[in-house]
Amino acid sequence: MPVTKFSVPEKYKYLEGFGGYHQSEAIPGANPIGANSPQLPPFFLSTERISGTSFTAPRASNLQTWLYRVHPSLSHSDFTPLPSSRSSSEEQFHLTPNALRWNDFPTTPNQDFLSSQKVIAQSGDPSKKEGLAYLTYSASNSMPPNTVFFSSDGDYLIIPQAGTLDIHTELGNLLVRQNEICVIPRGIKYRVTLPNGNARGYICELYQGHFQLPELGPIGSCSLANARDFQVPIATFEGRISNGVASCSPERWTILTKFAGSLWECTQEHTPFDIAAWHGTYYPYKYDLGRFSVLGSVLFDHPDPSIFTVLTAPSHREPGTAVCDFAIFPPRWLVMEDTYRPPYFHRNAMSEFAGVVINSQDEESVWNQGGEGFRPFGATLNGAMVPHGMDKRTHEEARRSELRPEKVAMEGFMIFLLESERMMGVSGWALEAAGKAGIKGSITGALKEKSKL
Ligand SMILES: [Fe+2]
Repeated sequence: MPVTKFSVPEKYKYLEGFGGYHQSEAIPGANPIGANSPQLPPFFLSTERISGTSFTAPRASNLQTWLYRVHPSLSHSDFTPLPSSRSSSEEQFHLTPNALRWNDFPTTPNQDFLSSQKVIAQSGDPSKKEGLAYLTYSASNSMPPNTVFFSSDGDYLIIPQAGTLDIHTELGNLLVRQNEICVIPRGIKYRVTLPNGNARGYICELYQGHFQLPELGPIGSCSLANARDFQVPIATFEGRISNGVASCSPERWTILTKFAGSLWECTQEHTPFDIAAWHGTYYPYKYDLGRFSVLGSVLFDHPDPSIFTVLTAPSHREPGTAVCDFAIFPPRWLVMEDTYRPPYFHRNAMSEFAGVVINSQDEESVWNQGGEGFRPFGATLNGAMVPHGMDKRTHEEARRSELRPEKVAMEGFMIFLLESERMMGVSGWALEAAGKAGIKGSITGALKEKSKL
C-alpha cells in the first residue's frame, strides 16, 4: 500500500492527471503551436478532431481532442453489418424483482477480448444515448492482427478480474493489470492483446455521458480517487518521417465497431496507429485501485457507501443521481464503537451489481478463500428496492462480538460495485447462468463476504 504490488511490470510511460488538458508528441514538433488547424500541419500531417461532448458543453465537462495523423479516419470502405454472434437469449432482457447471484459465468474457448463479450444486463438505448450495459469478457486469444475495435455506443469502463490486457489505442498504449481499471471513450479505436495468457473481467458500457470524479463536498480537495493518479497514454506512431514528411506503409486493416448494439466491419489500407501527436481532453486512461484513498467512520455508525466511489456518471435527472457509480471496497480498518459493523439491512433506490477483482496471481488460493461467500468470478445483482443484508449467522455474530479495531477484506480479493439509478434488464443468457448456480432468486449466502466489506 498505497500502490498495488503488480506481478506484471509496467512497460509504458504515461501522462498523469484526470480531466486535464493533455498533449503528447510521438514525433517532436508534430503538435502545431497555437493554431489547432493550420493550413499545413507539421510533417504534412492531416488534422482531425474527435469530440466527446457538444462543442458548447461547459468547460469542466467539455471533451475534445485534436489529432495529427497521416491518414484521416474517413479513408475506409463502407461498413457492412456482421451476422450477430449473440444468441436469442442474449438479446432478450428481463426485469425481475428477485436478487440474482452468479457463482461464475460460462466461458467459450478461443475467444478474444471482443468476441468473448456477453451482455449480463442492460438499461436504456445507445441510439438515444440513454443508460448503460454490463458485460463480461473472457479472452484466451489476442485480437487478430491488423484488427481494431471501437464502440460508437458507449465509453468502456474495463474492470479486469484476472489477467492482463495490453491495449493499443489510437492515442497510445495502456497496460491494464489486475487491480487496475481503464476507460476507453467511445470512438477511440484500439486493439487488445494478452501478454500473459487468459484474461477475464467486466465491462460497464456507458451510453449516457462520461465518467468523472465524484464531488468531495465536506471531504475537501483530496482523498478517494485522486486526480493525479490517473494515467493517460502518450502518443505512439507506427509510421516514419522522411525528408520532413510523415508516412505509413500501405497495409490492410479491419475496423470493427459496435453501432446501436450491432457489430459492423470495414477495411482500410493504412494503420489506424498513425497519430504523430495529439492534444485535448478526450482520451483513454487507467487507474490503479491500490491508490484509492479510503475514508471511513472513526467513532460510530457507517458513512454512506458513496464514500467508496471511484468514478461516477451523473444522470442529471435530479441532483445526486447517477447513471452509474463505480465503487470499490478495499482493505481498510474498522474501528467504530457500539456499531453494527457489517452493512445494515437495506433496500436501495439504485440497482447494485457487485463483482470481484482478484489481485493475487495465485488464483487457486483465492478460490479456496472464497468459501461459501463471493466466488472469484461470481457476481450479484440486487435491483431497485430488493432487500438485502447479512445472513442470520453473520448478523448474530455482528451483534454480539467484542468490537476491536479490525482490518477487513481479504488480500488479493476486492469487491467492486456498479450502481445505477436505472432498473437493469438481465439478459436471458445471464438469467440462465444464475439458474445453473441453483440459487436464482436467492441471495442468502452471497452476502457473507460482504461482512468483510
Ligand atoms: Fe446494497
